[in-house]
Amino acid sequence: MCGIIGYVGTRQAQPILIEGLKRLEYRGYDSAGIAVLKNGALDIVRSQGRISSLEAKVDWDDTRGTVGIGHTRWATHGAPNEVNAHPHRDASGKIALIHNGIIENHETLRKYLERQGIECTSDTDTEVLTQLIGYLYKGDLEKAVRSALNEVQGTYGIAVISSDEPGLIVAARQGSPLIIGIGKNENFVASDAAAILAHTSQVIYLSDGEIATVTQDGLRTTTLDAIPVTKDIEEIEWTLEEIELGGYEHFMLKEIFEQPEALRNCLRGRLNVRDGTIMLGGMTDINRELVRAKRIIITACGTAWHAALIGEYFFEDVASLPCEVEYASEFRYRNPIIENGTVVIAISQSGETIDTLAALREAREKGALAMGIVNVVGSTISRETDAGIYLHVGPEIGVASTKAFIGQVAILALVGIFLGRRRHLSQPSAKHLMHALENIPAQMSRVLELTDQIRTVAEKYYQRENWLYLGRGYNYPVALEGALKIKEISYIHAEGMPAAEMKHGPIALITDGMPVVFIATQGSQYDKIIGNINEVKTRGGDVIAVATEGDEQVRKLCDHVFYVPDCPEPLQPLLTTIPLQLLAYHAAVLRGCNVDKPRNLAKSVTVE
Ligand code: G6P
Repeated sequence: MCGIIGYVGTRQAQPILIEGLKRLEYRGYDSAGIAVLKNGALDIVRSQGRISSLEAKVDWDDTRGTVGIGHTRWATHGAPNEVNAHPHRDASGKIALIHNGIIENHETLRKYLERQGIECTSDTDTEVLTQLIGYLYKGDLEKAVRSALNEVQGTYGIAVISSDEPGLIVAARQGSPLIIGIGKNENFVASDAAAILAHTSQVIYLSDGEIATVTQDGLRTTTLDAIPVTKDIEEIEWTLEEIELGGYEHFMLKEIFEQPEALRNCLRGRLNVRDGTIMLGGMTDINRELVRAKRIIITACGTAWHAALIGEYFFEDVASLPCEVEYASEFRYRNPIIENGTVVIAISQSGETIDTLAALREAREKGALAMGIVNVVGSTISRETDAGIYLHVGPEIGVASTKAFIGQVAILALVGIFLGRRRHLSQPSAKHLMHALENIPAQMSRVLELTDQIRTVAEKYYQRENWLYLGRGYNYPVALEGALKIKEISYIHAEGMPAAEMKHGPIALITDGMPVVFIATQGSQYDKIIGNINEVKTRGGDVIAVATEGDEQVRKLCDHVFYVPDCPEPLQPLLTTIPLQLLAYHAAVLRGCNVDKPRNLAKSVTVE
């Protein structure tokens, strides 16, 4: 959940660390700190709050120091204050450490250290690990880190420096992402490529249980048991420009507007409409098993879970394949039944969500064929699956997921059509869907033109604290996603549910002027949803509807209508989600919320 950067080279470390932390800020943002080795001593500056607070505390006239580490924190153990901020220092004051993850046995280790006369000064699990390394240190930092990690249970991505061994960073990973950036006369350590992309695009991905000892001229990778490991250098394809704001007020808005292009990139090279075939290179190895699958389980968290629900409808409807969707956090602890012929698909934007990763491991342990649908290339989930498909929608910085959701739904549609063709889906039906899918990016651009209209509606309702979102069929998960978006970024209480469920309780909430959002596009359940809209109107609710262009009935019935172009029902979520993203965005801006970094949330949830 936290962000990590380390630098060892010939340039001044401070500006590189601060700049890197700014790029990582979206990963964790309640406090931050840096440690730089200056004339054989550690100089540590830490601060509560955003990186800008830390930047203001750093002595910029002091230009010594070409080795350092930096951290931005999202609190897990101990309040987000300066004492608990990283880097932590050992009792000798010579070793500094930054950490992303959780040391589960920190209480036991803390007591052990106390018995050795070492008191921790913060509430963090991280300081315990730092003190343990300090306690075990006998002049060889790598060895001390190795010994300490052998005592540790939990997850970590760490970077450690010592004033006794300047010119050296020891990094290690278990369950939290960590990469080494390779430069010229300089090297980097980071939790995320964004932190170091300004300096290098050559990276090494550390795997769980590996340690890297990094100097200005090179690095050595070993396992926790000191066995050397050879790692490949890989090239990061994303440009820094792709990660920057590009003229938009917020990353979220930029990412919403990028969706037509993101979807084009996602579909590129994967659709052969003329032949009615789908090409998914990442699945070639498992095609046969996939085609023979008897059941699919999709597991995910948050927005990715909503995409999974749409996948469930698609797989059963278009591919005639039984499918269930499981919250990863429940699946992993539930002793799930995995029979022969079960394929488990894990969906994750970051590829690092700990619950999704654990669910995937559980499924594999039980013999399931595991597939990943992931955005971040080289992420842990992408590396732990038998096969997978990348979204190719580019980096997503806004904490609230938008374009990744669109990519996830599109990939599920591709897999559904692919499987459908090998089962009961006729070639003309497949071609029809594929052709429609190709047209979606252009249709999306038309939906995005609604942004001013949507803002006007948001202006009317943004002060209302309770909203309902209702949909049916393929648009039921869209209702869930619409409600989640507005909750996440505007802190409005919203509930999403199948429209028919409203009468089993939530209808009691409807009072005069309560905003109720309906996804009421043309489709198999259109008449039913019109009935539900009437039920709300009768009770005084204000209905905001997403409807199919040209639908006059909905216009007459509802208070506000956002029209989307027509498309086949299974693909509608790709269009109907967009007005709801924009509605949440405008409401959040009007409420003065921090859209890209909502309170209490983080982009990548690497703790349980
Ligand atoms: C966090 C984010 C959500 C995201 C979820 C799953 O809660 O705030 O936007 O949907 O994690 O993340 P993943 O990276 O696995 O898709």
